[in-house]
Amino acid sequence: MNRKTLWNVSLILLSSFMLVQCTPKGNDKFIDDLMSQMTLQEKIGQLNLLPTGPITTASGQNTDILDDIRRGEVGGIFNLKGVRDIRIAQDIAVKETRLGIPILFAMDVIHGYETIFPIPLALSCSWDMAAIEKSARIAACEASADGIAWTFSPMVDICKDARWGRVAEGAGEDPFLGAAIAKAMIKGYQGEGLKNNNEIMACVKHFALYGASESGRDYNMVDMSPNRMYNEYFLPYQAAIEAGAGSVMSSFNDINGIPATANKWLLTDVLRKQWGFNGLVTTDHSAIVELTNHSIGNLESVSARALQAGTDMDMGSRAFVAQLEKALKDGKITENDIDIACRRVLEAKQKLGLFEDPYRFLSDERAESEIYTESNRAEARKIATETFVLLKNENQLLPLQRKGKIALIGPLGNTRTQMQGTWAVAAVPSKYSTILEAMQRNVGERATIRYAKGSNFMYDEKFEERTWVNKGELPHLDDEQLLKEALEIANWSDIIIATLGEPAELSGESSCRTNLEMPDAQHDLLQALVKTGKPVVLLHFSGRPTVMNWEQKNVPAIMNVWFAGSETGDAICDVIFGDVSPSGKLTTTFPQTVGQLPMYYNHRNTSRPQDKDKWFEKFRSNYIDVTNDPLYPFGYGLSYTTFDYSPMKLSANELNIKNDSLIASITISNKGEYDADEIIQMYIRDIAGSITRPVQELKGFQRIHLKKGESREITFTITPELLKFYNNDLDFVCEPGEFELMIGPNSRDVERCKFILTE
Ligand code: BGC
Repeated sequence: MNRKTLWNVSLILLSSFMLVQCTPKGNDKFIDDLMSQMTLQEKIGQLNLLPTGPITTASGQNTDILDDIRRGEVGGIFNLKGVRDIRIAQDIAVKETRLGIPILFAMDVIHGYETIFPIPLALSCSWDMAAIEKSARIAACEASADGIAWTFSPMVDICKDARWGRVAEGAGEDPFLGAAIAKAMIKGYQGEGLKNNNEIMACVKHFALYGASESGRDYNMVDMSPNRMYNEYFLPYQAAIEAGAGSVMSSFNDINGIPATANKWLLTDVLRKQWGFNGLVTTDHSAIVELTNHSIGNLESVSARALQAGTDMDMGSRAFVAQLEKALKDGKITENDIDIACRRVLEAKQKLGLFEDPYRFLSDERAESEIYTESNRAEARKIATETFVLLKNENQLLPLQRKGKIALIGPLGNTRTQMQGTWAVAAVPSKYSTILEAMQRNVGERATIRYAKGSNFMYDEKFEERTWVNKGELPHLDDEQLLKEALEIANWSDIIIATLGEPAELSGESSCRTNLEMPDAQHDLLQALVKTGKPVVLLHFSGRPTVMNWEQKNVPAIMNVWFAGSETGDAICDVIFGDVSPSGKLTTTFPQTVGQLPMYYNHRNTSRPQDKDKWFEKFRSNYIDVTNDPLYPFGYGLSYTTFDYSPMKLSANELNIKNDSLIASITISNKGEYDADEIIQMYIRDIAGSITRPVQELKGFQRIHLKKGESREITFTITPELLKFYNNDLDFVCEPGEFELMIGPNSRDVERCKFILTE
């Protein structure tokens, strides 16, 4: 044995010994002991969170990251997939570093791991908290089976501007619904509180206000009043913290002049002091180095500022590793600042049980048997059916019968790479079916299906390239030829199913748009299909609200299917052939034109509100060229059946501020021919407040199943707590006075009545 090997072996022995010695007793003493042995460099190393591609490659091993680990400069690694590679990295951390501190492995497991669920915006349209929790639970089980202990999800940024591509990753525009979804996701990921090895740490992002980036453009600034922050944007983050989220990711944007990543008010005063968060804060990718672009100092001073603001881990910048020692020498930070952050990283590892067993999430058996299972796929298929929003269904064109000649036309009809939508790092598209394959399986011999691509996504090939369309699967072909083939099939058919819209990466990060109409080539194709006179069903793919005026006017049936994940094809068949009635309802307003943005239902009134029956009046708050109405309002979505809403009843007209409650009841009847789910929504308006109050705010919802002919009375309880808001002093209060209560199938078509909150 040479000297180096001997040295390594003794290091291994020493670190294994220390691991045994360090077995935690679940209290701080373990971390105190560990930290007392750590050098400054080792502490700073724990704050470093690095991305990496595969370690095992065709040409051998990618040793860069492994060398970083050996040097003790890595606390966490993200987006490395697979037990084999993760074990290689963990082995080095545990066996080849002085103290053997395990690495925390993270990934953007956003809407599923290999079993991909619909994109988060779509999931929110199910309004089904149990199903959303289940989707996160399944994602956690699969990810943890493959070595992942930490997910960068949920994204709970409220967004009112559909130009922002990342609206796809959140739960829409409403804070009440957003908060409920945030809680469900945290519960799903963290299960019983990270006790078991199929529970992973959640990370609430992007803290804060990222969905309000100016002009709907990524990484942009946010300038916002505290009133608006607290009443309209903060609720989902806070709900996630209350639900026990283990970590938070700060956002890229600045907030009133101070970037979130260096914002002490945000990361310490609000997050830790007001909300009591005691977990780990990571930056977003490269956010510390990017602070220099915000013009608030050089790398050394921004690193110091980020640390002192309350950042614990530096994702992808390597700024802490490069700068903190110097910042300490220069007196910009103290060793205690580093200790605080290091302790939080170690505590997260401790909560995840990594000190007891660094290999806790590394099991070949689990990886083999618990990922993309039949039962996980069945759940994904089921929830996908709940997310589709039927926007129009003239003459009950849908559901279709499994008979005759079906033309499936459009670039999204026979692809497996586009179905999962944005942010699906672990997806394996080769395992997923295309819509054509699923449909052929579903109808069997009963109908004949022919497929044509019909058009490219857009005429401009360069634009298409920017959306990362997989050229192997979807090459850019000759426009005329594509149209010709499509029209031949369209003319042959009895019915046309058009699969059109955004390619998967036309929404998501760095996919902000100024034009929200269907891309040109597809729009021309759709017009040509409608012109054939054959009935057309538009299955519309999008990761955001889009502008669909022409479609609404000219296409008889439209269903927004978003990006429904790995089981898209089967889920679409379940709905279009009538096995399941569509039940999704919009969680973002669809505008008539981009010029109306930002657009959202829970706006405040103006001094000259538009008269409902007049679309334009001089000197009122309206546009001269278009009404103030959305194309489709928040909460909107049709069903194959019709639901009748009875007049609403209130248990009393008054409610006392001291702990009283009111019951609102309404009977819903399924009057149509299909068993179906309905989502009933309750909104409240505070008629006179100490500050201006929104025209309506969602304050309750229920998703129920009614068989055809069935009726059910449902009730909502209204308490003073539900009427609270942040006043001008940011006190959370409810104010006595008159309120309007609204219940209905969407935010527009509501029954109204009034009640009074008394002192
Ligand atoms: C995104 C985050 C993501 C991170 C790590 C960033 O670009 O903004 O949402 O978690 O990358 O992949």
